[in-house]
Amino acid sequence: MEASFKTKVEDKEKKYLEFIRQFKGLIEGENEEISVLANTCAALREAFGFFWIGFYLVRNEQLILGPFQGSVACYRIAKGRGVCGTAWATAQTQVVPDVEAFPGHIACSSESRSEIVVPLITNRKVHAVLDIDSNELATFDQVDKNYLEEIARILSKILYE
Ligand code: SME
Repeated sequence: MEASFKTKVEDKEKKYLEFIRQFKGLIEGENEEISVLANTCAALREAFGFFWIGFYLVRNEQLILGPFQGSVACYRIAKGRGVCGTAWATAQTQVVPDVEAFPGHIACSSESRSEIVVPLITNRKVHAVLDIDSNELATFDQVDKNYLEEIARILSKILYE
């Protein structure tokens, strides 16, 4: 297991490629959900320095707060509510350049300005969502979407297949 996810790579796409290479090593041979998701948050935080990174897990027809890195967050989110509940209900990644412009956005921190939420899916079933918040507007684009979806696929295969 490589211990450090810090990188000097500036180009975002190259950074994600290097991240995914190391990430596969980090999670190899482990399929304990909470442990793998916790280390995923830590690795993303170290590599990209995002403001808030965490997972919400589908439990009893609602999302509950799972492993995360960042400030305290709300415990439960209903299906279809907020950015996370929308990602779950639609099984589609939500890229939100300005959280104030997203109807029903749930503000866990007033510092959060933009957000991306990626569902973890197998056989059309959503098991969890990866939620990343930024304290700047329009942080996330198609590059983030593509690579975070790749990370979500890797996790889904290991944890939920
Ligand atoms: N903003 C999210 C809620 C979770 S926090 O960002 C950690 C939402 O609207 O679903």
